[in-house]
Parts: sequence; structure tokens; C-alpha cells
Amino acid sequence: MLCQRLEVTPQNIQKAAKLICAGHLIAFPTETVYGLGALGLDEQAIQKVFVAKNRPGYNPLILHVASAEKALELLDLKSPELFWQLAKKYWPGPLTIVAPKAKHVPKLATGGLDKVAVRVPSHPVALELLRLVDAPVVAPSANASQRPSSTTAEHVLLTLGNRISAVLDAGPCEYGLESTVIDISQDPPVILRPGALNLENFESDTSGKINGSPGRLDKHYAPLIPEIKIASLEELQQAPKNTAFLLHTPRYFKGRVCEILPNNSIGYAKELFAAFYRLEALGIQSLWIEKVPDDKSWASLKDRIGRSSSRENK
Ligand code: TXA
Ligand code: MG
Repeated sequence: MLCQRLEVTPQNIQKAAKLICAGHLIAFPTETVYGLGALGLDEQAIQKVFVAKNRPGYNPLILHVASAEKALELLDLKSPELFWQLAKKYWPGPLTIVAPKAKHVPKLATGGLDKVAVRVPSHPVALELLRLVDAPVVAPSANASQRPSSTTAEHVLLTLGNRISAVLDAGPCEYGLESTVIDISQDPPVILRPGALNLENFESDTSGKINGSPGRLDKHYAPLIPEIKIASLEELQQAPKNTAFLLHTPRYFKGRVCEILPNNSIGYAKELFAAFYRLEALGIQSLWIEKVPDDKSWASLKDRIGRSSSRENK
């Protein structure tokens, strides 16, 4: 299948919506990362997403909708107070809420679980697309399973290009990091995946502790680089020849391939996955990543870097 690259025009958003309604797979931009969209209540369409991504069936998908009211229809919540508190504060935006699912949500989308994940993205193209489709859209990150999430249409074409119908290209994503996932059916709520929301503010809203999502394989977000190591700036000085570096401290290392990302968590997040894709395209065999600060604002990035360097599926 040849994937069409659609520039963002009202006609092309309409075209993408029609293709989704007809059961096709369409990648689209969100404020976090590109999503691989398909009809979220249609088992055949959902199945296509798992196949295209080569994603294990137990790893549940997020249902995307255009409003909190529509999200609530997908849930079976006895008391929606916390839902509304979070929805009002963070939606549209990079928060995903997990709660008991309504009957009509297929278990194929939830990896067999009785809970479903829902999100209202803030990217105007995503919102317009969801409005036009007028039904929930499952949208995992638009990358092959275990690879870094796509933050540009080029990444989508690189990892999924021959497996999907089209990608709506709106340029690089604002955050570059996936949404924060929180399970509000537990008391206190549990953060299943740290993400684009700054946890510092967020924890005071939820007193949430961090746990793990079911599908979060230890090895994840992995560039095709055989050796990835995390090291302090001092340790980097001892790295063998031919090791490439991914830094956030501006330093000159003579004769090395060096990616220097912004020295703040927001700028770093925006660039991280793109840097992974650039480095693997260079055929790098060994990459040492400068350790990021232990500060809470870097927590999601520490998580992603740790997973990208893990060689094991646990
Ligand atoms: O920012 C994002 O969340 C992006 C954009 C496209 O919206 N989507 C995304 O989807 O990252 P995906 O499929 O790559 O990651 C979804 C995460 C996984 O860690 C999954 O295990 C978790 O959400 N998740 C989904 N449904 C769940 C459920 N019912 N219970 C627990 N965790 C769930
Ligand atoms: Mg993903």
C-alpha cells in the first residue's frame, strides 16, 4: 500500500475523516506525537491497527474524541467528580484518563481489560478530524511497536509507510512526548505512564503514584542502534572511539558524532525522538546518552531514555 502524504487543508482533513470512516488507517498529528487513527468501536478497523504496528493484542489503545462529554459516554463511572476535575483542567490536552469502560466499547480496543483509556487532544487538526469522523478514534502512537514515537510525518512514513493509507502532515508535534496516562478508578489514582504533563503540578491534583501500563514493554521507544548506554558527563570522556553522544550539556567532543539537545526538559522532549531517528539513519552502532537531571520535570524523559536503552523485554 502506498501511503499518501496529505498536507493540512480543510479538504484533506475531510478526506482523512472519510477514509477513517471507511475503515482505513490514517496517521494524524496531535500535540504530543502522531497518532495512527482508526474507527475505535469497529473491531475490523481496530484489528488493522494491531497488525500495522505489529503490536501485541494485550497492549490497549487510547480512544480519542472531540469533547469531554463524548469521552464520558465511553466510561462507566459511578461518580464522575474526579473525571470532570481533570477534564476541565487538562482537556483538550496531553492527558489520558483510564476508567471502567462502557459496555459498547470493544475489548479488542482495551486489550481485554474492563477499563478504557480516553483522551481529548488539543491539536486543531486532530480536533477537526475527530469532529468530522464523529465517532471515537483509536490512536496509538504512529510507529511500529517498540520503536520511538513519531513526532513528524517523515517518522510515520519511515516506520509505517507501506502499511497505512495516508498521513496528515502538520509538521513537528508541539510536545514530542506522549500523553500522561492516569487510572482514576483506583483510590488514590495511579499514574500509569508519565508523559507530556508536568508531574509536579499534576501530583498535587491527584496525589497519584506511578505504576505501569499493561502494554508497557520494558524495551520501548528503541532506535535501531545496537548499543545504547546512559552515562554521566564524566563517564562520557572515557567512551570508546566511534561512540556517538546524545547530550544536553553543550560540549565539544572532537571527532564524535554528537547530538546536542536543549538543556531544558520541554525543549529536550520535543527533539528526543527525532534525534533517535537521525542517529539511527547515520548507522550509529553505539550511542551514549548523557544522564538527565533527577528533577521531576525530567521524570518522563528519564523513563523514555531508560526504556530506549533497555535490551530486554520483561
Ligand atoms: O500522546 C498519546 O497518548 C499518543 C497520541 C497519539 O494520542 N498515543 C499513544 O498511544 O501514545 P500508545 O498506544 O502508543 O500508548 C498508549 C498507552 C500504553 O502505554 C497503554 O498501555 C496505555 O496507554 N493504555 C491504554 N489503554 C489502557 C487501559 N485500558 N488501561 C491501562 N493502560 C492503558
Ligand atoms: Mg506508543
